[in-house]
Amino acid sequence: MLNPELAIIPRHVAIIMDGNGRWANKRGLPRTIGHSKGVEAVRETVKAAAEAGVEYLTLFAFSSENWTRPETEVNDLLGLLRKFIRRDLAELHRENVRIRVIGEREKLRGDILPLLLEAEETTRHNTALTLVIAFNYGSRDEIVRAVAKLARDVQAGVISPDAISAEAISRRLDTADIPDPDLIIRTSGEERLSNFLLWQAAYSELLFMPEYWPDFDRKLFFDALKTYASRDRRFGGLSTKTAAVAS
Ligand code: IPE
Ligand code: IPE
Ligand code: MG
Repeated sequence: MLNPELAIIPRHVAIIMDGNGRWANKRGLPRTIGHSKGVEAVRETVKAAAEAGVEYLTLFAFSSENWTRPETEVNDLLGLLRKFIRRDLAELHRENVRIRVIGEREKLRGDILPLLLEAEETTRHNTALTLVIAFNYGSRDEIVRAVAKLARDVQAGVISPDAISAEAISRRLDTADIPDPDLIIRTSGEERLSNFLLWQAAYSELLFMPEYWPDFDRKLFFDALKTYASRDRRFGGLSTKTAAVAS
């Protein structure tokens, strides 16, 4: 154990990496510099998560709504993702990191999809941290695709309408077989989910941090873990922390 304050390590941490543009603006720099600095924060966070013993780290890299940004910015973001996979895949693989990608894939154009598939394929048997990259991801889109799949399965007689359960829906989401996030962090002071893991966040602890994403580092990650360890998760039941006193 690293530190008694970190006694409870979340199994799955998900991060809405926000504030790259404002970080750059504040310094009179183009937004794209904020995005490249953001990639460095990604590298540091992946290392910190592995060190802390977190099993799943999900990073919101590009939302299904981010396509509405100016074409040059979209291209910058896609370029950075390409560069990240090309440059970092070998090292992540060496570190035994398994990569999973969530988000809509069918409509992706160009070389992005093959790169994402290669990252998943190369690292599929790795057993350390699972790094989940949410790319072209939107929770409502994910739920719509899962429901359409469920409808097709009903039509094909794979499942009867009476057997539809929360589990049957979860199994058809992009996150099938990934546990729900225990902790969702959003940087930059914004306090919303912006269409991220809406179904999976039912009982996640939410933590909104004021720092812009390019300033995020190992220390802030461990601060977040400390805050998480101090939370009292009740899941609609009674507190486990005070149960002894209450009974
Ligand atoms: C997060 O930073 C990166 C992505 C959404 C891809 P932003 O680009 O949203 O930065 P702000 O919110 O404009 O500062
Ligand atoms: C959410 O951030 C998406 C990612 C971090 C990839 P946005 O910056 O796109 O969200 P809004 O527009 O402020 O809600
Ligand atoms: Mg933003």
